[in-house]
Amino acid sequence: MTRSITARLVLMFALGALATLTLIGAALYGVLERELTRHQNDELNTNLQNMRYSLERFGDLEHWARLQVKMDTLTPADGSVRFWVLSDDPRFLYGKGLDEMERVNQGEAGRGMLTLPITGHTYRTLSMRLPPFQDRPAVRLIVGVDTAPFEHTLRTFLVALTLLTLGAVALVMGVGWWIARIGLRPLQRLSEQARALRPKTLSQRLRLERLPVELEDLTAAFNGALGRLEEAYQQLEGFNADVAHELRTPLANLIGGTQVALSRPRSAGEFQDTLQSNLEELERLRSIVNDMLFLARADQGEAATGLTAADVAHEVEMTIEFFEPLLDEKGSTVAIEGDLRAQATMNIALFRRALSNLLQNAIEHSAAGAKLVVTISQRAGAIWIAVANPGKTIAATHLPRLFDRFYRVDSSRHDAGETHGHGLGLAIVKAVAAMHGGATLATSEAGLTTIAFSIAERAAPAA
Ligand SMILES: Nc1ncnc2c1ncn2[C@@H]1O[C@H](COP(=O)(O)OP(=O)(O)OP(=O)(O)O)[C@@H](O)[C@H]1O
Ligand SMILES: [Mg+2]
Repeated sequence: MTRSITARLVLMFALGALATLTLIGAALYGVLERELTRHQNDELNTNLQNMRYSLERFGDLEHWARLQVKMDTLTPADGSVRFWVLSDDPRFLYGKGLDEMERVNQGEAGRGMLTLPITGHTYRTLSMRLPPFQDRPAVRLIVGVDTAPFEHTLRTFLVALTLLTLGAVALVMGVGWWIARIGLRPLQRLSEQARALRPKTLSQRLRLERLPVELEDLTAAFNGALGRLEEAYQQLEGFNADVAHELRTPLANLIGGTQVALSRPRSAGEFQDTLQSNLEELERLRSIVNDMLFLARADQGEAATGLTAADVAHEVEMTIEFFEPLLDEKGSTVAIEGDLRAQATMNIALFRRALSNLLQNAIEHSAAGAKLVVTISQRAGAIWIAVANPGKTIAATHLPRLFDRFYRVDSSRHDAGETHGHGLGLAIVKAVAAMHGGATLATSEAGLTTIAFSIAERAAPAA
């Protein structure tokens, strides 16, 4: 099937016109054929009745001679109507081509068709048998009408009809092409607008005014896609800047530390210290790069692999255990609440990583001796794990952006603090949730901050 809408429309118009006209033509042809046949039959009937009347009343040879003259006069010069009288008595015979007649099967009395073998003329016939009367033996009277003019009329009509139909179809195709061109012009306008779009002009949208309703949906969808693209593009640009910024600090530290170390002769111990601090910076760099690689893979829509059925409460407990030293140090506690028997299919390592990030934040952002709570709940085919901690309320404007890469609520802390995170923790939580068909949620009210993620109860296994 052709891929051009114009060609397709024109083809459909043509097929539609052809079907309609063929139907009308066939009906007209049928009517004409019936009328012509009726007309011929009327003619046959009239002639037959006329001759029969005379034949039945007179049976002597004198009248027979007169009847022959009458039949002669009734036969037109072009021979389009013919009479034949057949009998066993050679005296009572009439008609042109009698010897031919004898050779054809004349059939029974009534209507029939007759083709003379020598001249090849075909006649529509009507015949009847007359009983003997006076001198005359039993005879068969046949009246024939030549079908050639009839056939000719039908053929001429058919040719005219075919030519008219073809002409009309061609006309419809032409008009259809023109209509399609006009109808598709808005589409062309749209393509021109779309062609002009560049990464720099992503903020532009296709103009909706004067567009046919059929295209409104498409245009709106396209504009929606543009909006998302623009957002992603901006995010990507911002992300690049963030990455550069994030790598600059450890690099500057590395270069600075190394330069200082090299500025004058040092003892082996001093070099060791420098190398040690360099190693810490390098590890920091590595962890940022690893996190970013992980996020990039998750971005590509990679689903979690290595799924196993796990007891959620158990995994939470194991993760908390890992933080025990830190918790003890701050005198804080973590309680597990909610559905302690929940089961889920998940990648256990990823699950622990996400929960660790939440716990780390909660511990970091709560005062010493705080009571943290991890709540497990089941909602709409998903298991939710929420970590709540008392602490400074996060302003509502920040909440939706917490899961963005490199986003920190208090950016000043980032430059001043020594052991600040690099703002990828929650982005990773979000990625892990997405890889398990889940989502994330953050609320902060009246000094209680709750950050949660979910995983689908039955995560689809990765292909
Ligand atoms: N429980 C919390 N209470 C208050 N603020 C929080 C909490 N969790 C996260 N935040 C805020 O959200 C920001 C982003 O958190 P995220 O875990 O992504 O980054 P980070 O902790 O700064 O760095 P990273 O986790 O990569 O070491 C944090 O900088 C902090 O401002
Ligand atoms: Mg964090």
